[in-house]
Amino acid sequence: MTETTALDHVDLADPQLFADPDHHGLFRRLRDHDPLHWNPEGVEPGFWSVTRYEDCLAVQKDSVTFSSAGTNVLGQQRWTGDEGSGRMLTHTDGRRHTELRQMVNQSFTPRAVAKLEPYLRSVIGHSLDRALEEGEVDFVDTVALLPIASIAALLGVPKEDWELLLGLTSAAFGSADRELQTSPDARVSAAVAHSRLLLYCQDLMDQRRVAPRDDLVTRLVEAQRDGLLSEEDAMLFFDLLLLGGNETTRHGAVGALLALIESPRQWELLRADRRLLNSAVAEVLRYVSPSKHVLRRAERDVELHGRRIEAGQDVAIWHFSANRDERAFPDPDVFDITRKPNAHLALGSGPHYCLGASLATLELGLYLDELCNRVASATVLAQPALLATSVINGYKHLRVRLLPA
Ligand code: HEM
Repeated sequence: MTETTALDHVDLADPQLFADPDHHGLFRRLRDHDPLHWNPEGVEPGFWSVTRYEDCLAVQKDSVTFSSAGTNVLGQQRWTGDEGSGRMLTHTDGRRHTELRQMVNQSFTPRAVAKLEPYLRSVIGHSLDRALEEGEVDFVDTVALLPIASIAALLGVPKEDWELLLGLTSAAFGSADRELQTSPDARVSAAVAHSRLLLYCQDLMDQRRVAPRDDLVTRLVEAQRDGLLSEEDAMLFFDLLLLGGNETTRHGAVGALLALIESPRQWELLRADRRLLNSAVAEVLRYVSPSKHVLRRAERDVELHGRRIEAGQDVAIWHFSANRDERAFPDPDVFDITRKPNAHLALGSGPHYCLGASLATLELGLYLDELCNRVASATVLAQPALLATSVINGYKHLRVRLLPA
């Protein structure tokens, strides 16, 4: 069997494939031998995949040819329909997308998120100190509060409700891993938690209607008043903002710790010279790539690598593979916090480039800084198992022992 025929039998929509650490090898073979890969119908309808850096960049930038309006990730919503289609920021193109983005942009500028720094530092410090006291912890839990606390602060959720929000968000959306979410009981509790979350959002919007503040929930209320959003759209937006930066940032932080444990010289380097923090964050994002892929639909026929993508067909953009493409990054499997240039695609590119990019980089930078301040070293206590999902790159658990600096 030739390499290309062997690749014909791979189903990239199968979440289980990503529980095997060797999936990086599989994507290397795809980049080399089948850069525009057709995935026949398997666990879901057929779709194309681009895996090389240059192709991922080109497809993501061309939102006229490759639309986000249907859905933006693989999954069952491709045949059941996606409630966000044509309505949510992530699921719109062109004018409507720009309009929605402008509505919230000012809350996500580097200057706006920088105001959160002291408070985020204290959240991180508190979580790390608690983990150090406990000695042995599941680091996936240790970093859980950071992303929720960050977005809750921007939304305007009062501090006393952050733990509640964390509990509801975890119960409602849980992990992207099927094994961690599909028992019947878990599904019922997920639905109940999601309803409570939406009621919470409605309640907060009612409060802001009466007493507006300088926060994102007030912006969602103003957008309803200006006829830009329906109340349901505003609640979808609230959901998106809570979710967009949650698992991604969490697993970015977990992956960062693991990378530093596996490359102690890099940890030493960063501890000794914090001017490397920005390039360390970029390298964490490239190396970990917490978001594995996004999906687009072709609006017209397109030729690529001698094959034809037909109008109406879906194309998965595997940016985690682009970030390990030897054509774009020398020694791509090496974690190197001094890497330059490092034009990774972990936060996407083009019109849908991550809205929370400044927030995510701030969170990860503060987290790396505090890790260097407080933790001398860490030991992995049990082989971590990868999440079985094509959406998020992360681990089910990461049991570690932390030693204080
Ligand atoms: C390490 C953390 C993060 C990673 C890896 C990440 C990754 C991404 C990627 C790849 C996209 C592009 C999606 C597409 O092209 O369809 C995106 C978009 C987005 N991200 Fe992030 N993200 C992170 C953190 C955050 C945070 C903290 C927020 C805060 C709310 C956020 C909110 C969003 C939103 C709302 C979009 C949609 C933008 C649009 O469609 O115009 N993300 N993110």
